[in-house]
Amino acid sequence: MDLKEKELIYRLNRDEKLSEAEYSELIKGRDEEAAVLLANLAAEKRKAVFGDAVYTRGLIEISSNCRNNCLYCGIRRDNQNAKRYRLTKEEIISCADEGYGLGFRTFVLQGGEDPYYTDDVLCGIVSAIKCGHPDCAVTLSMGERSKGSYRKLYDAGADRYLLRHETADAEHYFKLHPKEMSFENRMRCLRDLRETGYQVGCGFMVGSPFQTDETLAGDLKFIELFRPEMCGIGPFIPHHDTPFAKEKAGTVELTLFLLSVIRLILPKVLLPATTALGTVDPDGREKGILAGANVVMPNLSPKEVRKKYELYDNKICTGEESAQCSKCLEARMRSVGYRLVVDRGDAPGFK
Ligand code: 5AD
Ligand code: FES
Repeated sequence: MDLKEKELIYRLNRDEKLSEAEYSELIKGRDEEAAVLLANLAAEKRKAVFGDAVYTRGLIEISSNCRNNCLYCGIRRDNQNAKRYRLTKEEIISCADEGYGLGFRTFVLQGGEDPYYTDDVLCGIVSAIKCGHPDCAVTLSMGERSKGSYRKLYDAGADRYLLRHETADAEHYFKLHPKEMSFENRMRCLRDLRETGYQVGCGFMVGSPFQTDETLAGDLKFIELFRPEMCGIGPFIPHHDTPFAKEKAGTVELTLFLLSVIRLILPKVLLPATTALGTVDPDGREKGILAGANVVMPNLSPKEVRKKYELYDNKICTGEESAQCSKCLEARMRSVGYRLVVDRGDAPGFK
């Protein structure tokens, strides 16, 4: 690590903002020594805000139907080989009930953009979960919808919304998505979610095709300015039935480095150690926590459908029962000196 790299890291640690050019220098200049320093500073920051707590969210993958055709995603519309399913309201509620018994106080409903989940259907599901478990938070990760729809879902009780921005560079966005999708609409959705009152999560894949140190610097600047309550990042992993089948996967090394940088930019952010990180490295999620992440998301989807929610190849946690998945992650977190906490785990300071 040269002096310049060290200075950039210490400036971040003092809550100073870097320019976009400096973020890309920081990424380009990284080596193992820089990564260790960053991870230590990130772990200290996280400890100051959250102690040794790691929050846990029960992930329920409600539908593998998607009207979109993102070039990287295994459940894209044009993938004829994708196995499609959707969970009914009753099935979703029973996953949440089981999760409640296992100690979960946040449920994340994630799915492709499936027109079956109209506002009425989805509002009915959200309000049923909130009625059954008023002490729980419901997070939605259901893609791009209208502002009116986001409002109805919020009024039905949804607390948080995850919508990865995927890349903050319009040209890069265009290379990852079909032409009927737009960067402007993605950003519009994030703004609308924020204005509606949600705790909002954005994020991106590390090592996605056409990504450069400069586009990554743009992602960091976007995160610094947008100040999301949550931020999901994980390595890109090719899926064999997509146009990106032959592309290289993102690395654990760069993902961990960026997790640490994001922790220093936003000390209070809720930052998951993702399933994708656990897929490219068996100890990826533990390493993610040590690099500054503070959230894990065990899978609560019914065992029969898990393999069908295949965004990328070799996804982990597809053969386990919910209870196994949750016990496994608890043990993994304990093994690196952290404890899973049983509460909603709202963003600190969020009113
Ligand atoms: N590799 C890694 N992450 C992926 N996602 C979709 N496809 C892949 C892939 N091939 C991520 C996207 C999306 C989230 C739900 O999953 O970032 O927003
Ligand atoms: Fe877009 Fe799946 S096709 S996230």
